[in-house]
Amino acid sequence: MFRTFVPLVAVLLVGCAGVRTAAIEPESDVASFRQPAYSPRELPMDFHSRSEPNRVRVTHLDLDLTLDFDARELRGAAELSFERFDRDAPLKLDTQGLAIVDVVGPDGRPRAWSLSADDPILGAALTIQLAPDDAKVRIAYHTTERAAALQWLSPEQTADRKQPFLFTQGQSILTRTWIPLQDSPGVRATYSAAVRAPKELTVVMSAEHLGRGDDGVWRFRMPQAIPPYLIALAAGDIAFEPISDRCGVWAEPSKVVGARDELGDTEKMIQAAEKLFGPYRWGRYDIIVLPPSFPFGGMENPRLTFATPTILAGDKSLVALVAHELAHSWSGNLVTNATWRDFWLNEGFTVFCEQRIMEVVFGDARSNLEKSLARHELDLEMKDLEPWQQVLHIDLAGKNPDDGFSGVPYEKGALFLRRLEAEWGRAAFDEFLTGYFDHHAFQSITTDDFLAWLRSQLFARDPSRADAVDLVEWLEKAGLPADAPRYESPALGDVDRERERWLRGTPARSLATERWVTQQWQHFIHTIPDDVSIDRLVELDEAFGFTRSHNCEILCDWLVLATRRRYLAADERLAEFLTEVGRRKFLKPLYTELAKTPEGLARARSIYATARPRYHAVSTGTIDKLLGWTP
Ligand code: BES
Ligand code: ZN
Repeated sequence: MFRTFVPLVAVLLVGCAGVRTAAIEPESDVASFRQPAYSPRELPMDFHSRSEPNRVRVTHLDLDLTLDFDARELRGAAELSFERFDRDAPLKLDTQGLAIVDVVGPDGRPRAWSLSADDPILGAALTIQLAPDDAKVRIAYHTTERAAALQWLSPEQTADRKQPFLFTQGQSILTRTWIPLQDSPGVRATYSAAVRAPKELTVVMSAEHLGRGDDGVWRFRMPQAIPPYLIALAAGDIAFEPISDRCGVWAEPSKVVGARDELGDTEKMIQAAEKLFGPYRWGRYDIIVLPPSFPFGGMENPRLTFATPTILAGDKSLVALVAHELAHSWSGNLVTNATWRDFWLNEGFTVFCEQRIMEVVFGDARSNLEKSLARHELDLEMKDLEPWQQVLHIDLAGKNPDDGFSGVPYEKGALFLRRLEAEWGRAAFDEFLTGYFDHHAFQSITTDDFLAWLRSQLFARDPSRADAVDLVEWLEKAGLPADAPRYESPALGDVDRERERWLRGTPARSLATERWVTQQWQHFIHTIPDDVSIDRLVELDEAFGFTRSHNCEILCDWLVLATRRRYLAADERLAEFLTEVGRRKFLKPLYTELAKTPEGLARARSIYATARPRYHAVSTGTIDKLLGWTP
């Protein structure tokens, strides 16, 4: 039967289980250490996991792994501790493409297990029969070439070209491709890990770094209960540069100083965030800048954000990404979407918080510029989305969570929160927000839980205004409600003025663009009408050097335009960019634009044939579909 409380002592023991002696003393001041290792309440239905956490629920994971770069395989064991709510139930786990070697109980004897048929999205359920007293089991296993979370890079795919590299990407449902576990964001667990790697490499994880022991083994522990998608690992020839006592940057040796300079405002951002949202509860905040094949801009792995090198523009113009991943330390990592249909709780709140941080650290003008550009981009993107994809509380039954991925949970989510903020006032909304983080700390919650908190905290202040914002329209309907906020950005106004001058014949070199930042250039490129002549595109390129830009945001937007307009001078750079960078946000619009004509499609396929082996599975998953590619 379902238990409703867990003794604190048991929680503490679970939290410590499996931590081994370490080369470096663990931190003792992690503020949240006494948080429950899991939420004892009943979890909602998650279509994307075949585990049954309301019967038996994993609370701690102890990994013992060897990274085999030759075989491109992770090998070892996962020891899972669990709570049993239904004494008769087996332990059910998610796996995808894992080779299970054996399962043993705490008595060292084997336990019967079976794998279900493989589902293309969900993988295979691993069912383990438990003995009456079992509170943990040890599963020996190894990964296979189907481990979509993992990307193994050859030395040539790194900046310094000396050593291979490995990184993982768990969100949304890929952790099951490298660890057998209950891969649902409602199932929070603490973890510890011992990792063996070639001696030239450094291993880092989304956890407290205990260092490499005399036995050569890297050890980690994560004492706060986190959802499975936040378990992450990277290994390579990497160096560290501090920014402050609690924050710094990992990157390949030739990149690390530049990365530290570019990301030098991170400590300021943490301080701003703590003032706004409450204490940072994870100990350290470090960033690892990965090789360019990383499929996302950033990933908020706790204590260690994973980031693309494409944010290193040289002028700090793309550091909103750090504000974003940092903000997930509250929205997402502390308060987590319980299922993937509640993903907007993670990303909408995070975009909202990101811009609050940007406002404090870089001022209103920069924040308004970013909000305004984002609104323009959402309006454009919405036109190409199917109605079901435009809904915040999205219905993902039978679908891959990745198919629901778009700007909607991000920007529409943030607009919704800003609409509420505008209605109730910043002071009241701030109180609501910090209360939301405190009240739900270390829990995974649904959209209904959010609504309950909204009604009981914000709306209760003045029930007569509870209908001012149409919650059903915002959360359950397609499109953008008419009361969605718009932003005035004088900086974008400047761009509009200069663009009009250019269209009326002023030469590009005479435009007043000296102090333009990345987002202004992006707006300029987005708003060049399609009927300007190729000669005038040449003129722009000569004046502003778009084709040879090292700013990936500007370059990508320009290459999309160049492709649409068949501006051939950019062809070579396009092929080079698509082969070098694996960030899906850039690949998708470029391949989409190419695929619009038969010649373009042929070209796309030929570039893709070379580039595909260099991309992470997250990116090939999307581009395969786009180009009708069968691997
Ligand atoms: N958590 C996301 C990345 C993600 C989302 C991975 C869904 C897998 C599934 C991360 O926080 C993110 O949103 N990254 C953005 C950057 C941000 C500034 C909008 C990205 O990668 O572009
Ligand atoms: Zn995010």
